[in-house]
Amino acid sequence: MTFAETALSHASLEEYSRMAETKATTRRAGRPKVTVVGAGMTGGTIAQLLALRDYADVVLVDIVEGLPQGKALDLMQAGPVLGYDTALTGANVYEDAANSDVVVITSGIARKPGMSRDDLLKTNMGIVRSVTESVVGSSPDAVIIVLSNPLDAMCHVAFDAAGLPRERVIGQAGVLDSARFRTFIAMELDVSVEDVTAFVLGGHGDTMVPLSRYSTVAGIPITELLPADRIAAIEERTANGGAEIVGLLKSGSAYYAPAASIVAMVDAVLLDKKRVIPCSVLLQGEYGVDGLFVGVPIKLGANGMEQIIEITLSDDERAALHRSADAVKELVETMERLGREGA
Ligand code: APR
Repeated sequence: MTFAETALSHASLEEYSRMAETKATTRRAGRPKVTVVGAGMTGGTIAQLLALRDYADVVLVDIVEGLPQGKALDLMQAGPVLGYDTALTGANVYEDAANSDVVVITSGIARKPGMSRDDLLKTNMGIVRSVTESVVGSSPDAVIIVLSNPLDAMCHVAFDAAGLPRERVIGQAGVLDSARFRTFIAMELDVSVEDVTAFVLGGHGDTMVPLSRYSTVAGIPITELLPADRIAAIEERTANGGAEIVGLLKSGSAYYAPAASIVAMVDAVLLDKKRVIPCSVLLQGEYGVDGLFVGVPIKLGANGMEQIIEITLSDDERAALHRSADAVKELVETMERLGREGA
């Protein structure tokens, strides 16, 4: 009798599912564990990309009953076809997330018609705070990677709720923004994206600060390859990269490139790659900013943020970075006000 037949002869289908789920959570105990909170479009795609990499087990957690379980089981069933042994578990509670090496927070809602920015901020603040508190106690050694929007503000919330050192609470925005920048540069010059590097600083989207003089094609600065007006157009398209996709999709927002960007960060941590990539981190005087999460180049490895890489900025670049930091400060102040009003 097969395992399934034995199980079914003794248990209901529901009990069998539970047995299979337990089996999935325990059978790869030697692998690192990544918990992805929010099993929506981005969370599900992150789980899929991680499954394909086949080096870590994945726990998907969502507030919606059945959603993380369904996606985890579906992804498990792709394993035999695609040849991966990643164990994936879906849950609505945090028990299975214990002892995670990396926790990715994607949970949140997008702005709905008629919803004010403050309402969105308040809702996502509550979600990010509660999931961080739920997950951190049983995974005290985890590196937390935040994706929920507004990104830099949500990093503040996760950092406050987690009580972890700043090295282990990091936001994803710059990897995505620089990937968009690289895509548009490669399209413009008709060259491989592999040979294009891009350098961005600052907040996500509108307040992003692209540094074209440090953006290159095989080491050649793009300022030598493209006229200033084309570079300006590419920079603008990059800053509006998310909105362009929202406009095309009509409902929902980008998730393939955001998920890929998160996975690059998970790789850097779990494989201790010491990648030099732009991430949102708590600055404590670096770049003349204190006490705010802002996107800057960091070295990302097994210990999380291992170094902040400071470069000399021109006056214009510094001013743009500080405008970006001011926008984060404004959001943090709004959150403090909303917190007082809600208290
Ligand atoms: N706990 C766990 N999961 C939650 C919670 C919560 N308290 N609140 C919401 N979620 C889940 C939702 O049920 C949903 O499945 O978060 C998931 C978000 O998924 P999507 O709506 O598909 O959003 P996605 O496109 O993946 O975007 C992810 O990026 O742009 C940001 O702020 C946006 O938080 C969003 C994130």
